[in-house]
Amino acid sequence: MPYTKIIGTGAYLPPRIVSNDELAAQLAQDGIETSDQWIIERTGIRQRHIAERGVTTSQIATFAAQAALKDAGLDAADIDLIVVATSTPDFVFPSTACLVQNQLGISGGAAFDVQAVCSGFVYALTTADALIKAGNATKALVIGAEVFSSILDWKDRSTCVLFGDGAGAVVLSQSDEPGILATQLKADGSQNHILCAAGNVSYGEVVGDPFLRMDGQAVFKFAVNALSKSGQDVVAQAGLTMDQIDWLIPHQANVRIINFIGRKLGVPTEKVVITLDKHANTSAASVPLALDAARKDGRVQRGQTLLMQGVGGGFTWGSVLARL
Ligand code: UT7
Repeated sequence: MPYTKIIGTGAYLPPRIVSNDELAAQLAQDGIETSDQWIIERTGIRQRHIAERGVTTSQIATFAAQAALKDAGLDAADIDLIVVATSTPDFVFPSTACLVQNQLGISGGAAFDVQAVCSGFVYALTTADALIKAGNATKALVIGAEVFSSILDWKDRSTCVLFGDGAGAVVLSQSDEPGILATQLKADGSQNHILCAAGNVSYGEVVGDPFLRMDGQAVFKFAVNALSKSGQDVVAQAGLTMDQIDWLIPHQANVRIINFIGRKLGVPTEKVVITLDKHANTSAASVPLALDAARKDGRVQRGQTLLMQGVGGGFTWGSVLARL
């Protein structure tokens, strides 16, 4: 049975950076009060990247994929599977993955989207790992990409300050050496209402609510409990102990959530990758963006063991344990 190894990472962030102060000034024009201090104290976020109107998820996903291919030393033509995790697809269909495949100038392999909101990347990675191990693919692009600014209600301060846009990608290869060691995916659909964008296009009209809505405190509690249990499960499944984990790379939603999870898992803060101060919550892009940032700044090294975790709407959550 072959293994799956991560052989390259890449990222793309839209060039426009919006600081908390700039966002607070923008909201003040609509009579909405927020502040840099509130956002930093409650979340740890200092800024976010926001795409210009008209920029699509497939475009930024393609940029991240090209960076990951370059890092892996591969051509797009080597790829026989593309899985894109996104909640902000370009279209109802075709899938964003098919659009990415076309923008990469390739055809013939499989391409599809995974919809698990902020858990999307761990869902996509687990799916691609299974397809590679089953012999259905040999080299895969797994991409988390979002233009989340397009589904935010910019008059709702309890949500619009939390999110940003971006894309992160990894290249996976079939390998004789262990790479992905253990995975776990979970969902609890009874909690669908605590984080949702409950709208759609139907009979030629937008029906329901096209904006993201969230019960922040319910999500907070759920995320801490779900990810600490899931992290323990995958580490045990691989026959490892938590002190053998070199890096925890959790979903980047709130630094207080991340600190609680780190404490519950017994992972010290110096082993936790945090990028949400710069990127805010980029949903499916958050884990691959954090992985790429930590690789590029030299923190994460080849041979190290990484615990990657996602949690979000659905409700969904999951963990991937991988040796880089
Ligand atoms: O990817 C997964 C998606 N999301 C998450 O994981 C988010 C999970 N939840 C959270 O991160 C936190 O619950 C929030 C950051 C969303 C909120 O933090 P909190 O400490 O739970 O605050 P809260 O909702 O209890 O609100 C406290 C106060 C309220 O005012 P009152 O009722 O005390 O007068 C809010 O109206 O803060 C107010 N508030 C704000 N004030 C200034 C809410 N948003 C803002 C804001 N600026 N942007």
